Amino acid sequence: MLSGKPNHHGRSSSSSPWLFRSRRLTPLSVALYAIFLFAFSIIMFVFNTGRILDDDADPVPFFRRGSAIIEEEFLPTTDQASLKGSDSAAVDRLWDPPASRGLRPCLNPTSKYKAAAEVLDRYLTVRSNGGLNQMRTGIADMVAVARIMNATLVIPQLDKRSFWQDSSTFPDIFDELHFITSLKDDVKIVKELPKDLQAIPHARKHFTSWSSLGYYEEMAHIWNDFQVVHAPKSDSRLANNDLPLDVQRLRCRALYEALRFSPPIESFGKKLVERLRSRGEKYIALHLRYEKDMLSFTGCTYGLTKVESEELRIMRENTNHWKVKKINSSEQRMEGLCPLTPGEVGIFLEALGYPSSTVIYIAAGEIYGGESHLQELRSRFPNIVSKEALATEEELRPFAAHATQTAALDYIISVESDVFVPSHSGNMARVVEGHRRFLGHRKTINPDRKGLVELFDKLENGEVNEDSLPELVQQMHGNRQGGPRKRKGAASGIKGRARFKTEESFYQNPYPECICRSK
Ligand SMILES: *[C@@H]1O[C@H](CO)[C@@H](O)[C@H](O)[C@H]1NC(C)=O
Ligand SMILES: *[C@@H]1O[C@H](CO)[C@@H](O)[C@H](O)[C@H]1NC(C)=O
Repeated sequence: MLSGKPNHHGRSSSSSPWLFRSRRLTPLSVALYAIFLFAFSIIMFVFNTGRILDDDADPVPFFRRGSAIIEEEFLPTTDQASLKGSDSAAVDRLWDPPASRGLRPCLNPTSKYKAAAEVLDRYLTVRSNGGLNQMRTGIADMVAVARIMNATLVIPQLDKRSFWQDSSTFPDIFDELHFITSLKDDVKIVKELPKDLQAIPHARKHFTSWSSLGYYEEMAHIWNDFQVVHAPKSDSRLANNDLPLDVQRLRCRALYEALRFSPPIESFGKKLVERLRSRGEKYIALHLRYEKDMLSFTGCTYGLTKVESEELRIMRENTNHWKVKKINSSEQRMEGLCPLTPGEVGIFLEALGYPSSTVIYIAAGEIYGGESHLQELRSRFPNIVSKEALATEEELRPFAAHATQTAALDYIISVESDVFVPSHSGNMARVVEGHRRFLGHRKTINPDRKGLVELFDKLENGEVNEDSLPELVQQMHGNRQGGPRKRKGAASGIKGRARFKTEESFYQNPYPECICRSK
């Protein structure tokens, strides 16, 4: 899986001065320059392809990539030297956010944007599927879909059948009134389908995933036959890329502004953040996706006992909608497809240089095996903090039976943290990373799981010396700190609809559409 992007950057930034000069030269020398440039591009291409085989890894080292982007889009800045850093600055850099270069959120529609039309006879009803973050991004997409199709959106139903078995309704999780009023110029939203329309026939429509503007414009013919369209799924119904700026900005307004959590969740989340901060220290929010469902689904049993592995295998066997049943755990791990174990996270954070006193908030549900596995992390970082340690049982009781509501608390604490570290990729990791980029490129350290696992194994075999681990780990993550860069497109060489899957998610990195350079 190759990405052509870095070569494009390499070419455009290096070629322009030469082309400029060549205007005053003879045709022969122009031709020679062209040949030279072409050869240079090929060399750069071959040079870069070696590093970009891992789809999770950023293709070019951070500093080069950073400066390429800056040269392309912004004026050069003077702090390149400080980026390269000296050892003395290393401790500060642990908490420093990446340089965000005057970038700020931008959400306003363009001057062409018109207020929502009053449509009284076309209703879009939606059942959101998945966990909290899959539902949130899905709802943001459906806001845009309702706008494109000129429909009135009915407040979405939330998923009650997913793994999490949560009975929460929309107003339990979100501030419903705020959602309706803050989007009033974009889309008309109502709490319920009008009574007289509830009994008439509805069109049930599984919209194709990652669809374009044209797809939904064409879909609008459905209003000739129906007044109500029901979408039984909301996740990834809209393409990541190639949509009008106003559609993309609307998605951001919906996700970052309109979908505010309900007042009890919002205020309790803030209270927990205050309590974490009241210890007078900065904190890492660790999305430790070491939960039973994830381990069973991915087939990752590294470091688990035989009994635990067997329990996970049986769970996978019995979960009908998980299609892959036979999984080789070691192969899975070598590919970087396993969540880091609590022990691996401990080694990782220590190698990055975080002192053992660092406060680490565990943003996750129940850790598989509980304290028996958490201990692998606690032995290096004793100050790990859970919700249970921050709040009383009584305070937690209203949320405890609702996985979606506790996930919302984790979301708030993660977005507000000084450093966010996800141990695995997934909806929560992606959406929190994107939100942090949006809010000013807050630091998100994305572990290179494939690279780390290889390194850890070498360490165990004695092929790598423990003393060299910090440098190796830090080098590996120099360009994985959540700094500004454009959203990555599809992996090249992949044709058709499959390429949508390889694109970076819009909500993981809403740059450039919703992040702009300030005037
Ligand atoms: C939506 O309404 C606007 C204004 O009435 C119209 O220009 C546009 O074509 C409509 N779009 C669709 C998909 O029907
Ligand atoms: C799993 O894969 C590894 C590496 O490819 C191999 O050595 C091992 O035998 C496989 N295990 C099983 C149970 O197939």
